[in-house]
Amino acid sequence: MTNNPFAVLTETLPPVFLQCFVITMLALIVIGTVIQMIHHKNITYFFNNAKKAKLSATRELGAGETTAIIAKTIVHDIATTSELGAGKRRVAHVLGMYGTILFWVASVVLIFCYTSSDSVTPNFWSMMWHVGAIMTCVGGYWFWLFLRVDVLAEAHPWYRIIKADLFVLTLLACATFGLAWSYTQSLNLENRWDDKVFLTLYILSNIALFGGVYWSKFAHMIYKPGAAIQKNLAEADGSRDNLPPYADAPKQFGLGIKREQPKHY
Ligand code: HEM
Repeated sequence: MTNNPFAVLTETLPPVFLQCFVITMLALIVIGTVIQMIHHKNITYFFNNAKKAKLSATRELGAGETTAIIAKTIVHDIATTSELGAGKRRVAHVLGMYGTILFWVASVVLIFCYTSSDSVTPNFWSMMWHVGAIMTCVGGYWFWLFLRVDVLAEAHPWYRIIKADLFVLTLLACATFGLAWSYTQSLNLENRWDDKVFLTLYILSNIALFGGVYWSKFAHMIYKPGAAIQKNLAEADGSRDNLPPYADAPKQFGLGIKREQPKHY
């Protein structure tokens, strides 16, 4: 847990090599997301829709109220992924989300601050890197093996892989191979091949995760917060995304809804 695998790696590779790799991955996120926005036209749709909804707003929001709604959305809806409701799906997502954030922040800190030959890595950052990877694995494998809609609601076997799994699987591959690489490296096995194999797999899974942004669900971490803010603003200004207002009547759905948990999407 206290091993900084990047510092050990810089005994054979110059730190600048690792830093360039991180910058390339960041560039891949930007390129993949921008091309996706242009090609899928989702941002154009999003803004046109918001403009159209504004026309049916029943009241104007002031700057203070807008800021308060955005702050509340960040703290409540985004930081806790409230749209997933209460239950396993939300717990798994929160574990994976914060795990990944920890894993990425710690990777950047370890690579940019603690890979020079005269630096000593604080245990805190090495531990954050490992804890982040473990949390990503717990949340991600739980989701992928048991909670994924195809498996839970549509009864497909867990090993059926489709294009939509690209994001979650490459994310899990990065965390799993990163941990395996750090572990085998910390065993100090002279001239053994296993840590190099896991390092290669770790590099390849990072290239697949960040290089696959255009094809994967990676950008949902940018779109989802934007959509949550827009939804809450539309709720407050009365435009409600052009949806009808809530009915002023008791909820009556018959017996059907009591017979079975809703899990068919
Ligand atoms: C570092 C940030 C995040 C990471 C690593 C992350 C990771 C993931 C993963 C791995 C999935 C499963 C994808 C799949 O269907 O194969 C997922 C789904 C989802 N994410 Fe995120 N996410 C992040 C941020 C967010 C944010 C900020 C929101 C909302 C505000 C969000 C909302 C969702 C929703 C609604 C789903 C669908 C969940 C389901 O089908 O059960 N995510 N996320």
